Amino acid sequence: MVTAVAQRLAAQRREINDTLARLSLSSENLQQVKDKMRVELERGLRKDSHSTASVKMLPSFVYRTPNGTERGKYLALDLGGTNFRVLVVKIRSGIRKSVRMYNKIYAIPLEIMQGTGEELFDHIVQCISDFLDYMGMKNTRLPLGFTFSFPCRQTGIDKGSLVSWTKGFKATDCEGNDVVEMLREAIKRRNEFDLDIVAVVNDTVGTMMTCAYEDPKCEIGLIAGTGSNVCYMEEMRNIEMVEGDEGQMCVNTEWGGFGENDCIEDIRTRFDREVDEGSLNNGKQRFEKMTSGMYLGEIVRQILIDLTRRGLLFRVPVPNREVQSCINDHVVQKLSDRLALLQVRAILQQLGLDSTCDDSIIVKEVCGTVSRRAAQLCGAGMAAIVDKIRENRGRNQMNITYLYAMRLSDETLMDIMKRFRRELGNGLCSDTNPTATVKMLPTFVRSIPDGSEKGDFIALDLGGSAFRILRVKVSHEKKQTVQMESQIYDTPEDIIHGSGTRLFDHVAECLGDFMEKQNIKDKKLSVGFTFSFPCAQTKLNESYLLTWTKRFKASGVEGMDIVTLLNKAIKKRGVDIMAVVNDTVGTMMTCGFDDQRCEVGIIIGTGTNACYMEELRHIDLVEGDEGRMCINTEWGAFGDDGMLEDIRTEFDREIDRGSLNPGKQLFEKMVSGMYIGELVRLILVKMAKEGFLFEGRITPELLTKGKFETKHVSSIEKSKEGLTKAKDILGRLGMEPSADDCIAVQHICTIVSHRSANLIAATLGGILSRLKDNKGNPRLRTTVGIDGSLYKMHPQYARRLHKTVRRLVPESDVRFLLSESGSSKGAAMVTAVAYRLADHTPTPSCKSKHPMSMRDST
Ligand code: BG6
Ligand code: GLC
Ligand code: GLC
Repeated sequence: MVTAVAQRLAAQRREINDTLARLSLSSENLQQVKDKMRVELERGLRKDSHSTASVKMLPSFVYRTPNGTERGKYLALDLGGTNFRVLVVKIRSGIRKSVRMYNKIYAIPLEIMQGTGEELFDHIVQCISDFLDYMGMKNTRLPLGFTFSFPCRQTGIDKGSLVSWTKGFKATDCEGNDVVEMLREAIKRRNEFDLDIVAVVNDTVGTMMTCAYEDPKCEIGLIAGTGSNVCYMEEMRNIEMVEGDEGQMCVNTEWGGFGENDCIEDIRTRFDREVDEGSLNNGKQRFEKMTSGMYLGEIVRQILIDLTRRGLLFRVPVPNREVQSCINDHVVQKLSDRLALLQVRAILQQLGLDSTCDDSIIVKEVCGTVSRRAAQLCGAGMAAIVDKIRENRGRNQMNITYLYAMRLSDETLMDIMKRFRRELGNGLCSDTNPTATVKMLPTFVRSIPDGSEKGDFIALDLGGSAFRILRVKVSHEKKQTVQMESQIYDTPEDIIHGSGTRLFDHVAECLGDFMEKQNIKDKKLSVGFTFSFPCAQTKLNESYLLTWTKRFKASGVEGMDIVTLLNKAIKKRGVDIMAVVNDTVGTMMTCGFDDQRCEVGIIIGTGTNACYMEELRHIDLVEGDEGRMCINTEWGAFGDDGMLEDIRTEFDREIDRGSLNPGKQLFEKMVSGMYIGELVRLILVKMAKEGFLFEGRITPELLTKGKFETKHVSSIEKSKEGLTKAKDILGRLGMEPSADDCIAVQHICTIVSHRSANLIAATLGGILSRLKDNKGNPRLRTTVGIDGSLYKMHPQYARRLHKTVRRLVPESDVRFLLSESGSSKGAAMVTAVAYRLADHTPTPSCKSKHPMSMRDST
């Protein structure tokens, strides 16, 4: 008999243990929860996965925690927790720093929580009204902060549309609407008092801010109440849903939704599923339903009912429905505390549950298991957040020591834009031109192609990454068409660094070869010469090289007219050099051929530069006041007078020291293709030396100048294949990067190329704002013709540039037009007009002051 009872009890015990075992999580389980939470956090932050992420990571538009200098008197509402409260908060700063609060709690009846939105907000406003009466403040229009503890998609601190109700709320016509607007409208409906609603925040954000006021290190806010949720300070650059990369923003994770994509089904039990099915939002907030106060009592109740049904608990009497509903989270909390069994029994007694001593033990165990699981799950989630913050900080540390100076805020960029605009003015004005760094060279090109150009031309294109010779035929049969054939020729280093005579002989030889291949040896063709270096022109076909830039350094050319030099080299060949243009000008003209609005040309290639159409009356160096002329800015030299010292880094200085032209083209050396790869290499070497990368290992290849190319930067930067590319490229330099190394290298590439795009946006912004002022229109509508390998090879770069320009010059509509066919088509256009204006055509009198100019002045 005794053994039979003992056996039955043992069997019962096993069953109970089995039931509860499903609710006890192992450390592996928890580790997995943490890892999955981390994945969902990242998915919520990223643009491409945000819409399907179960953790929504909602931007809060709170950029920083309080610093103690806050002051004033505010009204606050707190809706969504256990209580609805209205408060007045008085904050003092300074020595008498203090916060005083007066508040009143109001009930929100169930029928209002689940009635219509209008009823709900009318009720809220009625409570406010009562509170203001109570405080005697009806007539003071106070600023109001609204803690609204539900997921809101915010677009500003005072705008937030409700994503979906959670917890016990289900009022109609609210989801998708702006809660601030709804509150404003309800205040208007009541027409009794007025309030300025200045902010809407989630309770987690409010909590973080409250605590940060006491402890500035606070950067996470956790609510474990009716609902469960966390917010924390995230780096702006990681929040893809919000523009901008600098600083931080608090993100409301809404982690209660974690698991909605079934990723934690392995740890959910049938009790969790029952609780879910009986809730207002079946399938939603699955993590919340395992962790928060509103549901813990429910889970315990489901388990107790199950155990009772299976005859394992409360044999006399079975609890009726009413009693069941008495078990709420407070009871669970109490019961899972360290209470003596007698006290447990007393509580159960109060609930009308007649329990044996065994029953109390079991109930206490169930409560303990459920609340322990909740705490552990929150802990696992929190660990994911802490890891994320730690990682952010690791990266920031890196940024602070090396790269911080490379990240330029919009404020700095604006400032650089202003400095550049000043430089533009200095270069144009005859008094200041001699000392100006940005030379603003007149080009004698006076208009964009008008469609009447035609002919058969040769174009030389020297100075970019390739030396090209082309034949360009522009005809007018039917539509205007352009036909081009081209060949690339080598420019070996010994030639571009040798004597000028040899360089031009080489050019002439290549030209001879090209003409022979084209079978035009005996034809007399006009040549347009894209010569991508700073030249002082006196007319279209007289062009004195001021100084070599980029890779070129042939002797005896600086100060000489390159048309003369080339003519000398060509000797007898029947070609006529009609025009020399800078590549920026060629690019503007090429694009202008397709889009008449084009009035700016920029190159972001081996070097960088821009030209644009300036009003002739502003160009002191050229006579005449009517019309416009294209100015080659030579912006690469911006900063040569020390103007950019505040933003140049040790790496920029090192690049300059090792270059062919130290002290010159300082802006170009921060941004253009010839230098970007080297910049990254220098950073990698320094970081490796200090042990931050590659475990401190550096191969001789990585130490070799030029081994890390700009095209590598572009391909590593791509988000998808970038990391594999980093491994490949570094592998080819003999390195064995770890996964973390690859991430860091990608990060560095991004920072360097981002800086380049931002700086170009600032200088281009300077030109655009000048154009806008020249035209005197409130808005500028224009097209920028653009070319160069850095810009072309790298979609991210282009996007970034466009975005920053739009931020810096908001009052403009800029079209960026890529010059698909290089600068030569444009050079041919210039040549065509020059040809027409020269003696070759029967054009009668030419009244233009500059006979070789683009403008046909008849
Ligand atoms: C080419 C133009 O497309 O781009 C050249 O035809 C120009 O005139 C060049 O110099 C600039 O880019 P990169 O990258 O070759 O220096
Ligand atoms: C719910 C809400 C969330 C809130 C949390 C705690 O999860 O969706 O916004 O922060 O409850 O109140
Ligand atoms: C260099 C040259 C400039 C050219 C640019 C782009 O900056 O000085 O003339 O336009 O490179 O090739």
